[in-house]
Amino acid sequence: MSTDAPADPSRRPFAGSANPRAGRGESPLPTAAAAYWEAAAASFDEEPDHGLRDPAVRAAWAARLRGWLLSGPAAVLDLGCGTGSLALLAAEQGHRVTGVDRSPRMIARARAKLAGREAAFLVGDAAEPPVGERRFDAVLVRHVLWALPDARAALRRWAGLLAPGGRLVLVEGRWGEAEPIGVSAAELTSLVAPLAAWTRVESLVDDPVLWGKEVTDERYALLAEVPGRDGAVADAPLASPSG
Ligand SMILES: C[S@@+](CC[C@H](N)C(=O)[O-])C[C@H]1O[C@@H](n2cnc3c(N)ncnc32)[C@H](O)[C@@H]1O
Repeated sequence: MSTDAPADPSRRPFAGSANPRAGRGESPLPTAAAAYWEAAAASFDEEPDHGLRDPAVRAAWAARLRGWLLSGPAAVLDLGCGTGSLALLAAEQGHRVTGVDRSPRMIARARAKLAGREAAFLVGDAAEPPVGERRFDAVLVRHVLWALPDARAALRRWAGLLAPGGRLVLVEGRWGEAEPIGVSAAELTSLVAPLAAWTRVESLVDDPVLWGKEVTDERYALLAEVPGRDGAVADAPLASPSG
């Protein structure tokens, strides 16, 4: 992730492994941060890993996504979908995508980006997605969980949105060197493991093409599968290229 988040320490839910706003019923984002994403929507796609405009960057994310999502047309819920760049890749791979974001401007861009495709976009809270009783084969969340006030509750909710055998695909990191923000793979694994039949962390640091530059901070995807109805679980997938 690039410098795309406000430098607001109150938005560091994993700092000290606790978010002071968690559990107090407060808005998932302080007003200033929600306004930040609204303002950021117009230029969001200018970062290589956001807009995926460079064919090499786009191909690198497409290859990862292909490895992370189940084969065959799957129902994918993309939470905090932003301008829909990953949603578009998933749709291009034959999946039916539902995207949710709090920012109406982000959603407007996502709708335009996926116009004519089998995709739906909703303005709403990623922590409580407005999808009713629908269940999904995959819940995809990139660079959003770290900013939620109660990550544990959000993860429980997301696991409950999965069809038996469905998969969480969480792309996160700890960005920056001096004062890193975000969530480490170890922290996230400890939150997800109790919900999952298996978890697997794939490092994304050694693949500069994903980011359009060399990176040295922690970046990863965490995959997790919920048990099937009969308790059966598939094997953890093999790592994607360079993973
Ligand atoms: C760093 S961007 C990531 C966008 C997209 N997932 C991607 O990887 O390109 C974070 C996005 O999460 C959205 N967001 C942040 N908190 C949210 C919440 N509680 N509910 C829904 N969307 C949220 C923001 O509006 C923004 O579009």
